[in-house]
Amino acid sequence: MEALLKQILEDCRRYTEQGAVATYIPELAKADKSDFGICIVNEKNECFAAGDFEKPFTMQSIIKPMILLMALMDNGGEAVRRLVGVEATGKPFDSFNYSDLALIGEHINPMINTGAIALCTLIKGESYNERFNRLLALTRELSGNPLLQVDEQVYLSEKRTGNKNRALAYMLRAYGLISDDVEEVLECYFRACSIGVSTVDLARIGSVFAHGGVDRATGKRHFEREYARYVNAILMTCGMYDGSGEFALTVGVPAKSGVGGGVMASVPGRMGIGIYSPALDKKGNSIAGIKALERLSKELDLSIF
Ligand code: DON
Repeated sequence: MEALLKQILEDCRRYTEQGAVATYIPELAKADKSDFGICIVNEKNECFAAGDFEKPFTMQSIIKPMILLMALMDNGGEAVRRLVGVEATGKPFDSFNYSDLALIGEHINPMINTGAIALCTLIKGESYNERFNRLLALTRELSGNPLLQVDEQVYLSEKRTGNKNRALAYMLRAYGLISDDVEEVLECYFRACSIGVSTVDLARIGSVFAHGGVDRATGKRHFEREYARYVNAILMTCGMYDGSGEFALTVGVPAKSGVGGGVMASVPGRMGIGIYSPALDKKGNSIAGIKALERLSKELDLSIF
């Protein structure tokens, strides 16, 4: 398996030259385009990795499935569904362009910024600090890595420049989807996006989603199977934003990308996958990461279709 992963990285390495690292969060512009790593954790909890699999990067949007999961665990599916819809928008992750000139929960989903920011308000806690700490604790638990923490430089960089998210959050408040203090909600969202991980952490989290909420390493059930199904279904249709349809065709598994260059995939009943390559396409998805997933999906017949 390790030989296969090495081969895939070698064959897909040329794609790391394409695209560009994210610059709209200035700290992310420091990423090295040539970094390329992959890790998988299979149903026997065996871990295989190649390339820069231990290189740290920030989760960015890959925290969105965790925000959705925590909102589900704290409130149940109906409450989550009432606040944020489940349909793909076919628009960029930070889109403003709501055709009906209103912001309606039914028209957004948990994987785009508005949906994820709104769902931060469903995480339980006395303060937004406590809500964030609970989210971090859950992310540490699922990854099996108690050392996960916020990359302060990325967090400050995003907080300083995150005016588009600020605007989106104020829109959510203007249209009554959220009622809490916008800056506090964003504090939780920005910190969450800035949690540092490696491909190994992503593969372990992906594996828990792949096995219906059960950690194959410990046998522990972390959450209900129906929540794994909810998250995986949304990842399948919305996880790669306006690239989700193409990804369903070419890779065919639930996955989430982040502008830090990571991709987490969950192959139901089989494995979790983490990939890192920071050069992105115009939709904010890792170019070489997707190419590697395409190859892996073909080699191991991973598509669920
Ligand atoms: O909110 C943002 O813009 C970033 N923290 C996360 C966006 C992101 O990762 C989009 N994914 N590919």
